[in-house]
Amino acid sequence: MRTLLSQEELHAGVCRMADQIAACYQGKQLTIVGVLTGSVVLVADLIRLLDLPIRVGVIQASSYRGATTIRGELSINSELMLDISGRDVLLVDDIFDTGHTLHKVIQRMREFEPTSLRSAVLLHKQGRQEVDIRPDFIAFQIPDEFVVGFGLDYEDMYRNLPYLAALEPADIADHAQMIAEAKLN
Ligand code: IMP
Ligand code: MG
Repeated sequence: MRTLLSQEELHAGVCRMADQIAACYQGKQLTIVGVLTGSVVLVADLIRLLDLPIRVGVIQASSYRGATTIRGELSINSELMLDISGRDVLLVDDIFDTGHTLHKVIQRMREFEPTSLRSAVLLHKQGRQEVDIRPDFIAFQIPDEFVVGFGLDYEDMYRNLPYLAALEPADIADHAQMIAEAKLN
């Protein structure tokens, strides 16, 4: 796999974004809602960089399957979420690709009437946007490639890589072989 962002670069980008978020919410209490599962690494790093009174919750959105660019039906589960009504809320996700996920999650969250609702993403994939919203905070712009690591997965794996890597056809073939071997053992 080809490294796109090193561990050091990722850390610097998350620190930069944390500073922008801290400046925006100075003197306020913040409720952070991470979109499961891709945001878990970013949320863990981000909350430890924010010197603010913070509540942390999660919401679940699932649709993306494998490296395909064809979207499946998106389902949102807000049952695990904290009470966000009358709160300043920051939604956190791993990547803004077409934007449909963030758009739908935001629509669902607005039903709970937060005082304010902004969004932060680690990555913004260029040239793929299909919706009329943009995240308020973006750590990195990346080219239109399928990436894994730092929370992002391919078939539920590679989220634990401490760096961000582009997945190429040869990597996908290796992955398929690894899965087949694991099933035999
Ligand atoms: P969107 O709805 O098209 O913006 O897609 C957002 C979701 O698709 C993200 O939360 C990711 O789970 C997934 N996704 C999009 N691009 C990638 C990628 O390059 N690698 C891994 N997951 C991705
Ligand atoms: Mg995801």
